[in-house]
Amino acid sequence: MGRVAELAGVTVRTLHHYDEIGLVRPSARTAAGYRAYSAGDVERLREVLAYRRLGFGLREVADLVGDPSTDAVAHLRRLRGLLLERRDRADAMVAAIDRELTARAKGMKMTPEEQLEMLGARLYDAIGGAYIATRRTELRIATQIWDALGDAQTVLNVGAGTGSYEPSDRDVTAVEPSAVMRAQRPTGAAPCVAAAAESLPFKDQSFDAAMAVSTVHHWRDPIAGLREMRRVARRVVVLTFDASEPGWQRRFWLTRDYLPEFVGLFTQWPSLAGMADAIGARAEPVPIPWDCADGLFEAYWRRPGAYLEDHVRRAMSVWTRVGPEAEQRAVRSLSDDLASGRWAERNRDLADLDAAELGLRLLIA
Ligand SMILES: C[S@@+](CC[C@H](N)C(=O)[O-])C[C@H]1O[C@@H](n2cnc3c(N)ncnc32)[C@H](O)[C@@H]1O
Repeated sequence: MGRVAELAGVTVRTLHHYDEIGLVRPSARTAAGYRAYSAGDVERLREVLAYRRLGFGLREVADLVGDPSTDAVAHLRRLRGLLLERRDRADAMVAAIDRELTARAKGMKMTPEEQLEMLGARLYDAIGGAYIATRRTELRIATQIWDALGDAQTVLNVGAGTGSYEPSDRDVTAVEPSAVMRAQRPTGAAPCVAAAAESLPFKDQSFDAAMAVSTVHHWRDPIAGLREMRRVARRVVVLTFDASEPGWQRRFWLTRDYLPEFVGLFTQWPSLAGMADAIGARAEPVPIPWDCADGLFEAYWRRPGAYLEDHVRRAMSVWTRVGPEAEQRAVRSLSDDLASGRWAERNRDLADLDAAELGLRLLIA
């Protein structure tokens, strides 16, 4: 075990842990009767470590290497593809940073108002690199959004990020202020304009519909941004969060029992009714499926262990916004409660639910 740890560049403790959780078990025996790694075990360890270094969590790695339909060559191909994808993204990010550096060197300055509007974008310039590890399209939520778009053919996606919810069968234009997020849009994604919601660079009624998903809470002035969407499009569809209904602070066990600081992030936040009124919208609830594919903050309500994974938290802005002290305390306390069975006891009623109502709302105007 010591020799394999040394060769693989990991600690013996890590190998023990992988053994304990059944991820990589030394299946051979030495002449003296000690447990040892066979060639097959070493191959599996190499795959596990490669997926780990690409940012996958232990549970995901277990699923990947445990898949009986994937042999060693298929794993190597997949790893190669993932690495090339990562290299492309890094290249794109370097190019975006170079463009900004050139603009700055030429003395291009933003007005104070533009700077404030880009505040939310700056957060994503700092944390956006971790986004795509877990943030992707959740088809059930996407279907609800796309249905709400009705027969719109031209669609503006505001705060588009990497484009997770852009419908592929319509003519989409994206708006995204963060260079890091723009750089991570996949090749072939809709064209993307660098701008903020509060001042959209489009004429009145330029689009059949404007959509915004999981972004309004980052805007400097949500009401101004919503009005801009209303101005440039005939239909507006916004996936947002209700932080005004009575008892909203106690809806989700994570913020109720472990991260009360979450509530403080929403003290300046307009009410759902205020946002709906600004654009003449109705609101419909958006349930979060138990196996939600998009790693948004509430996504793992029935899979609490996910919140212990660093790469899962890094793709959720909440953790950066509450700060490292609150984050570490919440994770420690959740980890203790999972180990002691206290979490399971407190949240027994969740085990039978397929979807949860945790305050996500679709505004449709
Ligand atoms: C949680 S991400 C959501 C991205 C995408 N809509 C999705 O669902 O995957 C929030 C996005 O809002 C963007 N954002 C921040 N401030 C903004 C503003 N004032 N106007 C438009 N977008 C903004 C961020 O840069 C980030 O890409």
